[in-house]
Order: sequence, then structure tokens, then C-alpha cells
Amino acid sequence: MEFSKKLQQLPAQFFAALVHKVNSALAEGRDVINLGQGNPDQPTPPHIIEALQQAAENPQHHKYSPFRGIAELRQAAADFYKREYNVDIDAQTEVAILGGTKIGLVELPLAVLNPSDYMLLPDPGYPDYLSGVVLGDVNFDVMPLFAENDFLPDYNALSDEVKARAKLLYLNYPNNPTGGTATLEFFEETVRFAKEHNIIVSHDFAYGAIGFDGNKPISFLQAEGAKDVGIEMYTLSKTFNMAGWRIGFAVGNPKIIEAINVIQDHLFCSQFPAVQQAAAIALTSSQDCTIELRATYERRRNVLVDEAQRIGWQVTAPKGSFFAWLPVPFGYTSEQFADLLLDKADIAVAAGNGFGDYGEGFVRVGLLVSEERLREAIMRIEKLKLFH
Ligand SMILES: Cc1ncc(COP(=O)(O)O)c(C=O)c1O
Repeated sequence: MEFSKKLQQLPAQFFAALVHKVNSALAEGRDVINLGQGNPDQPTPPHIIEALQQAAENPQHHKYSPFRGIAELRQAAADFYKREYNVDIDAQTEVAILGGTKIGLVELPLAVLNPSDYMLLPDPGYPDYLSGVVLGDVNFDVMPLFAENDFLPDYNALSDEVKARAKLLYLNYPNNPTGGTATLEFFEETVRFAKEHNIIVSHDFAYGAIGFDGNKPISFLQAEGAKDVGIEMYTLSKTFNMAGWRIGFAVGNPKIIEAINVIQDHLFCSQFPAVQQAAAIALTSSQDCTIELRATYERRRNVLVDEAQRIGWQVTAPKGSFFAWLPVPFGYTSEQFADLLLDKADIAVAAGNGFGDYGEGFVRVGLLVSEERLREAIMRIEKLKLFH
């Protein structure tokens, strides 16, 4: 039996090789410090687990969910946006429940583009955006993200041809992998750009809860007119350490939300209603757990950055997300440096070129181990005497 052509076109999972190498090292009994992955290391807060336990006992939740999710969760998403961002969302028409935002990001091209249409993707960027490109049979142009522009794309640098053919634009702030954050001015410029060129915008707000130095990340929908051109995808995976629960939502422009809902009517019966119920509780109850989580990541970031600078590694502190984007030393490619760290120091990091061509020259480090382990990691790197 042969796989379909479409399946064969899907991009190889770049990080599968890293996972394999790390697992081999672990199997040899080596004490690997894994900074390569993006999986939250903390448990889901107890009040959300209790909400799931109770909801799971309700026979009402054992039936098929309404196709478009339970009303409580759609309302909770709207209430969350009002409370956190002062953004008005209609729970009936402006919310789509997602089984994790990865699904939304992959299915959106299918919902709003035609084969051979073009979308604009950030480079470096979250690799799964490319899965949607292939499944939707569409093309893409990249928007390079440079440190000197705070990892924001420069729309003026795009050619007229690229601007004219773009129909869908993906953004992601706080940014994976660079740790960059967006400003309201940038989102306002995005709305102007999208209106001028008739482009749909989808902002991936996966790290919306994780901004450092007292700066709360801005929602795209806070920009005036944003709802005219786009949507935002929000996941509970990071904000509430619920990555395994597979729950998130999209909010914004009702036409785009309807397009997502129609696609999903054909693909899914929404999520386990008890998970939706617990997600609604997570969004509407005290956010103290998120405040604590953010403080934990900020302490880890400070340890990593201070220690790296102590050994002479010229690194810039990420402003948000739980990743740091660190330059590789002179004379190495991203992959060579990542291999060196694994082979000689038992440290796994993600090579920057796995996030796109403009990621070359960097590695991504996750702040997903304790401060002690981060200190230990830098001490091991210090012994390699790569920095002066
Ligand atoms: C930038 C970004 N977007 C989306 C996701 C997907 O999140 P989920 O499918 O868990 O909602 C991730 C997960 O790592 C991510 O880093």
C-alpha cells in the first residue's frame, strides 16, 4: 500500500531527529538536560483537575458534545477576553472551540483559501504552520524576523508581488521561537496592511499569558479594526499547563470563525464536554495560578540569561514566551552547535534552522526545567570554553 501524494508531501518532523537523539542518550544512562522541547513541565492547577473530575461524573457529558462546543465554554472565552483584554466577543458567533490551537492553525488555510493561494508566514516560526500549507494545497512567502526589528516583520520590506498575492497572514506573539513580543502600534500597522491588501490575519496567542518585566502581552484584537480583518487563536495548553487536554479556541471575525466551524462540523464532534467544562472553569476562576506560573518562568529566564552572560555568551533576554533564542558561537551552524551540546555536555537544545532559514545561527532553549538544572546546564557549557 502506498501513502497518498498529499501525505508524502507533508514536511518531515524536523525535531523527530532530536527526540531520537535525546532518547538514545537517555537509554545509555546519560543525564541529559532537555531544553529542546516545548512541553510545559508543571502540572495543571488542582482546581481545574477537580472541575474535570466532577464534570466527568455528569452523564450529560458522556454524550456527543454539541458540534460547536458547549455554551459555557464559548461564554467563558468571551468573558475571558473582556476581563483580560477589554475586547468584546459574541459567544454565539465569534468563538470557535478547538481541540488545541494546532488544529485551528492547520485547518484555517483549508477553510479560507483556495488551492495555490498564498499565505505569509513568519520565519523563524512554529513549524506546524507548514502542515496547513500542504494540507490546504496552498503556497507561502516568508516574512523574516530579525533581532534588530524586535522580531517583528517589516511589511515595507515585502515586494509588491508578495503583498499583492498574500491572502492569509500568520503572526505569533509572544513569539515561538524568538521570545519577541508585539506592540499595539505593530498590531495597528498590521490591521492597516491587511485592509490595504485584503489579507486575513490570524494571530497565534499561544504564549499570551507569558510576558516578562511587568509587561502583559497584547491581544491582536485590542488593535482598532482587528476584528474586521482577523482572528486570534488562544490555547489553554500554556496558560494553565493543559497541553495534554487538547483545548483552545479562536475568537474574532465572525465570518472566519464560521469558516472554521463549518470545517470542524465535518471533521470533529468537538471535545469531551467534561474537558470543555473544566476549561470554562479555568478561564473564569482566579488567575493566581497563571501569575505564579509567569513568575516561575521569569525567574528561570533570569537565571539562564545571567548565567549565560557570566560565561561570556552574548544573549538577549526574551520578553515573553517560555523560550530563549540564543546565538550560536562563531564557526558553528545551529545544528553543529546543538549536536556539540548534546554530545559533549548532555544538553539538548532545538537548532534554530528547524524553525526556518532565518533561524540559522540560533538555538532555542526552553525554560521548562528548574533553575538548578538551568544553572547546571550553563556550568556544563562553560566547561566547553566556547565563549570569552
Ligand atoms: C506558537 C505555538 N502555537 C501553537 C501551539 C499549539 O498549541 P496547542 O495545540 O497545544 O493549543 C504551540 C505549541 O507548542 C506553539 O508553540
